Amino acid sequence: MTPFSKIPPVNIIRIAETDSTNRYLTILCAEQQPPELTTVLADYQTSGRGQRGNSWEAERGKNLLFSTVLRPSFLEAKRQFLLSQIVSLSIKEELDNYGKGFSIKWPNDIYWYEKKICGMLIENDLIGNYISQSISGIGLNINQDRFYSTAPNPVSLKQITGKSQEPELILRSVLNRIATYYVELRAEKTTEITKRYHRSLFRRDGMHPYIDSSGQFTAELIGVAPEGNLILRDESGAERRYAFKEVSYLF
Ligand code: BTN
Repeated sequence: MTPFSKIPPVNIIRIAETDSTNRYLTILCAEQQPPELTTVLADYQTSGRGQRGNSWEAERGKNLLFSTVLRPSFLEAKRQFLLSQIVSLSIKEELDNYGKGFSIKWPNDIYWYEKKICGMLIENDLIGNYISQSISGIGLNINQDRFYSTAPNPVSLKQITGKSQEPELILRSVLNRIATYYVELRAEKTTEITKRYHRSLFRRDGMHPYIDSSGQFTAELIGVAPEGNLILRDESGAERRYAFKEVSYLF
């Protein structure tokens, strides 16, 4: 028996403002151990945290800013990239309802063509070799009309479709998708998850420009290894493998 019935429980704590929903949920989990999929949704973050030490820009009340908790104590730390796969697939597949062009830019940004609509920050805690807690923090641009930060290529769902959406409805669908994938992960049905993740990757076909510590190069995407490393094949035919932050996409 999985811990979820067909319609998984969704416990959303909605708050007007916090520094960071990841931080808020981390503290809540330390104090109260709320059930899995407890989700903190904020209208505004004063200090939203992004990847690579960046901040996350989001206008008050316009976007989805949320964090949700899982406790996949069955999952070995070396397989933690599967969590990244299920969360990014849940968002990408929800966005597919709104049109074409959505993809997952390794490791877990969501893109619409060459523009970023969603970023996530997944923070895992380990006990021994297993994951005791995983907090996924997600910033999904929904109704914002203009972006002011230096982030290179942001876009919102409204800019793509011309229509406003109710963020919380999208959140509920995304959480249902995460819960469904989580049941599959728990049941070890990971082949299909990984296949779908690969099919959804940004720049899946053709040669594209990248940059690493030795400079620029052009390569095709071969795939993502189980531990999460990006595998590329450059113009000379050599295979290159990268951990997160060791390579950047060039636009
Ligand atoms: C990125 O840099 O692409 C990741 C951005 C993650 C932002 C989200 S917004 C909700 C959650 N709380 C945070 O402080 N960060 C994440």
